[in-house]
Amino acid sequence: MTVTFALLEPPVAPSFEGMTFPAYRHLLALAPAPTLVHEPTARQVQPLAMAALREREPAALALVGLPLEGDEPPELLSLYVVPASRGQGVGRALLAALEGEIASRGFASLGTVFTASAPGSPAFSRVLAARGWTTPQPRTLLMRFSYEQAQQFPWLNRYPVREGCEIFPWRELTPAERQQLIGSQRERGWIAQDLVPWRWDEHGFEPVTSVGMRSPEGVVGWVINHALDENTLRFTCSYIRKDYGRRGRILPLYSESINRMKEGGFTRCSFVAPLHHATMAAFVRRWMAPWAGTLQETLGSTKSLVSPAATLSAAMAPPEE
Ligand SMILES: CC(C)(COP(=O)(O)OP(=O)(O)OC[C@H]1O[C@@H](n2cnc3c(N)ncnc32)[C@H](O)[C@@H]1OP(=O)(O)O)[C@@H](O)C(=O)NCCC(=O)NCCS
Repeated sequence: MTVTFALLEPPVAPSFEGMTFPAYRHLLALAPAPTLVHEPTARQVQPLAMAALREREPAALALVGLPLEGDEPPELLSLYVVPASRGQGVGRALLAALEGEIASRGFASLGTVFTASAPGSPAFSRVLAARGWTTPQPRTLLMRFSYEQAQQFPWLNRYPVREGCEIFPWRELTPAERQQLIGSQRERGWIAQDLVPWRWDEHGFEPVTSVGMRSPEGVVGWVINHALDENTLRFTCSYIRKDYGRRGRILPLYSESINRMKEGGFTRCSFVAPLHHATMAAFVRRWMAPWAGTLQETLGSTKSLVSPAATLSAAMAPPEE
């Protein structure tokens, strides 16, 4: 049976809609769009969709977000093969063709992030390995909980804000405060690089539940969130200056953010903790996960595309029948 690969053009046939995650379906319009549909100011990508067709019938879909600005590599957002065609090399061959396409557009690498415990992850990991992607590395802890489950956190609303400090909505951060943060980071480098707030709020943030902490010395903490959909909030980035963070003093920020969920219309949460922040990861495991719905790890992998010629020739190889 012949399998062919084709870059999709709009309008994409409705039969492909079920071949990616609901959160990414809007990208099948194949027009520049934020990766998260409910966060219009999130990172904009140019979606690229490549299909595998078997006897002209859709057999698989790969969806990629190409960066429109900045130096982040393109991201493989999903790879899906219809159940009847799985285990026959279609996923591997589609990925090979896709890598060739991305390389031919001048990109040096392609990345992906996926949930370790998802049912398709073992097969996906095999496909990545076969295509020479890096061994998937743990990236984040991903916890999901409802507003009701959050009410059970034993620390919720139990820790007062440190004297002299106040919590404020992040949308009220003044330009002067932002400049002070950027300047003090440049001088002293006191914020973990991946938790600097401007990295997470520059493309927008959820305005009701994202909060900061002002101290007499300026802004020293933040909890920056994004809406995943109308009801689901993601706690994306949280940080408090070390000396202010002792004895759980980031907890009033988390509490305030959770308390504001109702006002923002959110009933569910995702909480993301990068695993290399050991203190935060330990806190999540000990003080949140036991009362939460689920706790999962995400894994990240990348493929170097520095040899486009080699990748293209691999893409030409037909899948094993
Ligand atoms: C992951 C997926 C795209 C793979 O597509 P595919 O066409 O079946 O892939 P291939 O046939 O090229 O290769 C599948 C590999 O996974 C292996 N595999 C299949 N099921 C497996 C399982 N349950 N556990 C471990 N390995 C498994 C196969 O043996 C094969 O590896 P091998 O060639 O080393 O033997 C497909 O299973 C799928 O669509 N899953 C649902 C969507 C999904 O989870 N996508 C990934 C995250 S976005």
